[in-house]
Amino acid sequence: MSNTVIEFKNVTKTYKLFKSDRQRFKSIFSKKASYKKKVAVNNLSFKIEKGESVALFGKNGAGKSTILKMITGVAYPTSGEITVNGRVSALLELTAGFDPEFTGRENIYFRGQLFGMSNDEIRELEPEIVDFADLNDYIDQPVRTYSSGMKARLGFAINVSIKPEILIVDEALSVGDSEFKKKCLEKINQIVGEKDVTFLFVTHSTGVAKSFCKRGMVMRQGKLLFDSSIDEAIDFYQKTLEEDESKKKKGKGIFEQ
Ligand SMILES: Nc1ncnc2c1ncn2[C@@H]1O[C@H](COP(=O)(O)OP(=O)(O)OP(=O)(O)O)[C@@H](O)[C@H]1O
Ligand SMILES: [Mg+2]
Repeated sequence: MSNTVIEFKNVTKTYKLFKSDRQRFKSIFSKKASYKKKVAVNNLSFKIEKGESVALFGKNGAGKSTILKMITGVAYPTSGEITVNGRVSALLELTAGFDPEFTGRENIYFRGQLFGMSNDEIRELEPEIVDFADLNDYIDQPVRTYSSGMKARLGFAINVSIKPEILIVDEALSVGDSEFKKKCLEKINQIVGEKDVTFLFVTHSTGVAKSFCKRGMVMRQGKLLFDSSIDEAIDFYQKTLEEDESKKKKGKGIFEQ
């Protein structure tokens, strides 16, 4: 049996950028609507094996979040093939999918069911989730009365408690205050340390990546530039950043003179 849990085969994702809402509307009925194409992910192939911990590096717009979204099924590839084996828990859009009229506790059941769990399984995890979210009396209030930080805490608590086989984290997420952030990092560390859990981490912080991941991939303009051990990947990424920086400076120099 193969141990591959995530596989991309020649995956490309293009977004259509319409010149106006009118053109976007027209595209529903006609192929003549005019738009530009943005290639967010360009003919990407890679495999991740069970138990690997992988950091994904790249500048803003390199395609990192698009890759994660295609793994979780929020976005679809334009062409190519994606295989994912295992229960995916993504710390991306933590507050998406809550029913605002339900209480926090009811939403735990609601989301648990979305993950394919039975009510008994959810009941077992409920105390842990309630404790981690640390919302006191608000856990029995409708989610519409929560602040955005409180919603994110509940989302995080649920998504890390459902015993993920594949954990996906986009660092761009800013969860709660610094005390809660610390608690989140500790929890992620604990999950990543569990046997057979596969971890995919998008981050701009090479230090944090190094503490969590053994492998590093570097993306640029939708393409995979480098894929190796975390140390080599960080070296490579930092070098490309420095090169870009010096090119920019040189470019500027001409106009400044
Ligand atoms: N819904 C969308 N419609 C149009 N273009 C999009 C959409 N989502 C992403 N893009 C474009 O695709 C490219 C890749 O975006 P993506 O969000 O994957 O980058 P990223 O590597 O996660 O960047 P960051 O570090 O800023 O989070 C960018 O040029 C972005 O503008
Ligand atoms: Mg992103």
